[in-house]
Amino acid sequence: MEKKNLDWSNLSFSYMKTDYRFVANYTNGAWDEGALTADDMITMSEDAGVLQYAQTVFEGLKAYETKDGRIVTFRPDLNAERLHDSALRLEIPPITKEMFLKSVQETVAANAAWVPPFGSGASLYLRPYIFGINPVIGVKPADDYQYRIFATPVGPYFKGGAKPISIKVSDFDRAAPHGSGNIKAGLNYAMSLHAIVTAHNEGFAENVYLDPATRTKIEETGGANIIFTDGNGTLVVPKSDSILPSITRRSLVYVAEHYLGMKIEEREVLLEEVMSGKFTEGGLCGTAAVISPIGKITDHGREFTFASGMEEMGPVMTKLRETLTGIQMGEIEAPEGWVVEIKL
Ligand code: PLP
Ligand code: COI
Repeated sequence: MEKKNLDWSNLSFSYMKTDYRFVANYTNGAWDEGALTADDMITMSEDAGVLQYAQTVFEGLKAYETKDGRIVTFRPDLNAERLHDSALRLEIPPITKEMFLKSVQETVAANAAWVPPFGSGASLYLRPYIFGINPVIGVKPADDYQYRIFATPVGPYFKGGAKPISIKVSDFDRAAPHGSGNIKAGLNYAMSLHAIVTAHNEGFAENVYLDPATRTKIEETGGANIIFTDGNGTLVVPKSDSILPSITRRSLVYVAEHYLGMKIEEREVLLEEVMSGKFTEGGLCGTAAVISPIGKITDHGREFTFASGMEEMGPVMTKLRETLTGIQMGEIEAPEGWVVEIKL
């Protein structure tokens, strides 16, 4: 199979239309089987539930080419489970794990020519989502839904790839206690847009959000969880009911403990601990972010620069990133079931 003619090593994290996407419809109380289509356009009512009341949930995962030329995905079963949980929270009829995995298989196989070559640093990003499609005017769930998954080749989420980034403590809250912070719903991102534009205008790459109840604890960033290390072999992971259960973070916790022999602390992390220098390195982790090192955190003019600095990723984040991406791309043996091969 001939690859598309793209400058693979210089891709940014942006949308590019690929050849096929998978579409399934929910009508009369049941999902149909779904099928691939070349049509990237959606026609819907001006009063569709997604347009009026933001009834939509989504996922993000990647397909990679391995050194020996296979195409693989990473723990898609966990994306299926999280999409299921997100859907239930927004009264969206969930799709089965089987349908999810079938749609991943078919979408990646049909777009195999768009999977970036091994070693390019790029990957094929997959975006599954479900949304209410029929007219809804009183505040209630839609009756009909559409599930779609498209693929787009992407490079690093942050410019410069693994270069340390500068982030700010946001004055806005991302999620309320008992709100929707623990699911992947478009609404969580809509409310972060003003905050991210503000942060970018001030020269920051991302926002770190605090717990909305006390504004003393680290939650996560707009598009990734956060992890820290104390430089003494411990990985410290903020624990909260209102952050997204990142698949990357859960995998890193396993990798840190079982591959790198680190100690794990999953607990509440105070902003004050970070700003007073308790940790030597910090990183954003997620499908898009992989691990992006934090160089500096700014809280209302007060700055903290990690010992790893603004020039290079620190040694612990580097080791975690290399081990995780080695597993994802088939160079390091993966735990059972983590790496799922696409049949071509
Ligand atoms: N937190 C938020 C808010 C995100 O948008 C993402 C991206 O998916 C993550 C965390 C990381 O989750 P995952 O590792 O499952 O991609
Ligand atoms: C992902 O990492 O898949 C995400 O959904 C993050 C998004 C902000 C691009």
